[in-house]
Amino acid sequence: MKPKVLITQKIFPEAIEYVKMHAEIEKGPGERKATKEEIKEKIKEKEGLLCLLVDKIDKEIIDSAPFLKIIANCAVGYNNIDINYARKKGILVTNTPGVLTETTADLTWALILAVSRRIAQADKFTREKKFKGWELDLFLGKEITGKRLGIIGIGRIGKAVALRARAFMMGIFYSDPLRLSPEEEKIYTASFLPLDELLAFSDIVTIHASLTPQSYHLISKEKIKLMKREVILINVARGPIIDEEALAEALEKGQIWGAGLDVYEREPEIYEKFLALDNIIILPHIGSATHETRLKMAMMAARNLVQGLKGEKPDNLVF
Ligand code: DGY
Repeated sequence: MKPKVLITQKIFPEAIEYVKMHAEIEKGPGERKATKEEIKEKIKEKEGLLCLLVDKIDKEIIDSAPFLKIIANCAVGYNNIDINYARKKGILVTNTPGVLTETTADLTWALILAVSRRIAQADKFTREKKFKGWELDLFLGKEITGKRLGIIGIGRIGKAVALRARAFMMGIFYSDPLRLSPEEEKIYTASFLPLDELLAFSDIVTIHASLTPQSYHLISKEKIKLMKREVILINVARGPIIDEEALAEALEKGQIWGAGLDVYEREPEIYEKFLALDNIIILPHIGSATHETRLKMAMMAARNLVQGLKGEKPDNLVF
């Protein structure tokens, strides 16, 4: 008999077909997000769970699944899972590192350029038929070339962002609890700075750290005060790393120049004040959203799931 698994949300047919060869699948509702109650009910008899980052897999859900062997998260971040409790229960947890690095770095740059050149506002203006001809001071933005880029979190994505910054001849700085080796600093032409110095020094600050108790509200009201008035702040990592209330206030007062966000504190809720602000670009968590990458993520999660079900060591264990 094949082991039973739950796939909480919509995923690509290729991944479903692969899992089907090894397991009996029950799916979530598909057309909408599965609720916590639905997951709790459906997971009871299951040995495997393939979930997305929108599924909060907490103690309560884990306790509803006495046969669960593996939780395969279809995301590189896994702050949606109570990994300590899963570990205590002997349940494996996997993620999808590597395959989304370049795509997410590309989107970071799309946001940096869009904020600095006011792309979204200019597009809106043109669609509204407000363009009446070339003007010397129409939609003046900020130069990127030769500026200082501050990267918070120099993991895979932070490094990929650094490599792209060379094309803009930028000074590249990073802050991370783990220092790069001198060889790596050379490869990425990146110099270490303590966080406060990096914030005070950079023209663009981009966040690529994981969400942990230490990084929660890392960008607080006090830290924003350290930044330049002309700074652009980008976050494609996890929303709660920024105190949104403090950010909105700083943008409103012109205390910083602009921001680009792909992630939010209470996703999918968008902090109301952001909606009315002209100096922020807000995206719906699409950092890794290309067809190729999302398919790779789903296939990686499916393979991790099957490996765990078979009693093998999955390729992408998070602990
Ligand atoms: C992840 O995988 O953690 C990303 O946020 C999804 O794009």
